[in-house]
Amino acid sequence: MPEGDGVAATPATGPGFVSGFGWSEHPARPPVAAVGVLGVGHHLPEREVSNADLQAVMDTSDEWIRTRTGIRTRRQARADEATSDLALPAARMALQRAALSGSDLDLIVVGTVTPDHAFPSTACVLQEALGARRAAALDISAACTGFLYGLSMAEAAIRAGSAGHALVIGAEVLSRILNWRDRSTAVLLGDGAGAAVLGPVPAGYGVLSTCLGADGAGGPLLRMPAGGSRLPTTPDTLAAGLNAFQQNGREVYRFATQIMGDVAEEALRRAGLTAADVQLLVPHQANYRIIEAAARRFGFPMDRVWVNIDRFGNTSSASIPIGLSEAVSAGRLGRGDVVLTVAFGGGLTWGAAVLRWV
Ligand code: ACO
Repeated sequence: MPEGDGVAATPATGPGFVSGFGWSEHPARPPVAAVGVLGVGHHLPEREVSNADLQAVMDTSDEWIRTRTGIRTRRQARADEATSDLALPAARMALQRAALSGSDLDLIVVGTVTPDHAFPSTACVLQEALGARRAAALDISAACTGFLYGLSMAEAAIRAGSAGHALVIGAEVLSRILNWRDRSTAVLLGDGAGAAVLGPVPAGYGVLSTCLGADGAGGPLLRMPAGGSRLPTTPDTLAAGLNAFQQNGREVYRFATQIMGDVAEEALRRAGLTAADVQLLVPHQANYRIIEAAARRFGFPMDRVWVNIDRFGNTSSASIPIGLSEAVSAGRLGRGDVVLTVAFGGGLTWGAAVLRWV
């Protein structure tokens, strides 16, 4: 800033901007041809809650939960663990696999419906914890589609040259927003976090296509009614279970089995590929039967579908990045493999992405 132009000088110390936050380090970047995932990570809380554990505290059964949903057990965060506490180790694992550090990041996007606070964002909490001083940071509210919304936006930012590397996270502590008196929802959800570091990759690799959508008319099918400006939290809203996850299970099931196939098909079409080109399908994990229906639609054998709902339940925005990270750990996703990811969630929202793994 030239001196004498009437603009107050930025203080050199304290929580100022220019001096401490590395803007001068931002290189001018040309747009890049291809953007891909350079590293993935995941983290689950230690405490395991089995169907038998739930059977002991509510009117349900292992048999009902397994046959209707495919869930056997799920993880639950400790009372002192917030969403960023799960996201941080996942982010560190992804950065390590990408051989990068927080200071290399220009953008942090967190998909979550259970942020640490209404504000500041969980992404800002992580920006500080990771020492990602030059990164812009924001949370995305797209429920279970949050990771794919984040992936798509981060990919576009890198492609356009406005970010060099981005961290995209799906992280949830859903146990905090469950109504434990409602057996139809309390048995479904679990806590966890997954992360991906995105950056430039050789042409032909990385994100080959994305497809996102939303239908706000379906909002009431899947929601937490209270706790926002429409219905602030009061003793009455708490007593009525309105500060908790609610859904119309049957309608959501019907919607999910249709949209998962439609959006995956559209993403494949945009990538110029067919299901036969895909080595691994990593779908959002809401219900094993929904996953099976989506796979069947493509004639996909279940052994080419990554499944973790049996072990982790529905971890919402975290289920896909956890699945990608587990698949890499298991050697199921290697260089050149085409992976298809697809999700639906509250909003209603939906999305899919096709990637050629680097
Ligand atoms: N244990 C035992 N019985 C139960 C339980 C339970 N945990 N929950 C419900 N039931 C009973 C019901 O009371 C009902 O009994 P009734 O017939 O005597 O009234 C019976 O089981 C059948 O209930 P339905 O709701 O019809 O069961 P359904 O077969 O539809 O399965 C389920 C319910 C598993 C929720 C299913 O509808 C589903 O998976 N829907 C999609 C859910 C989903 O994908 N949600 C997305 C969340 S994504 C996000 O944005 C976080």
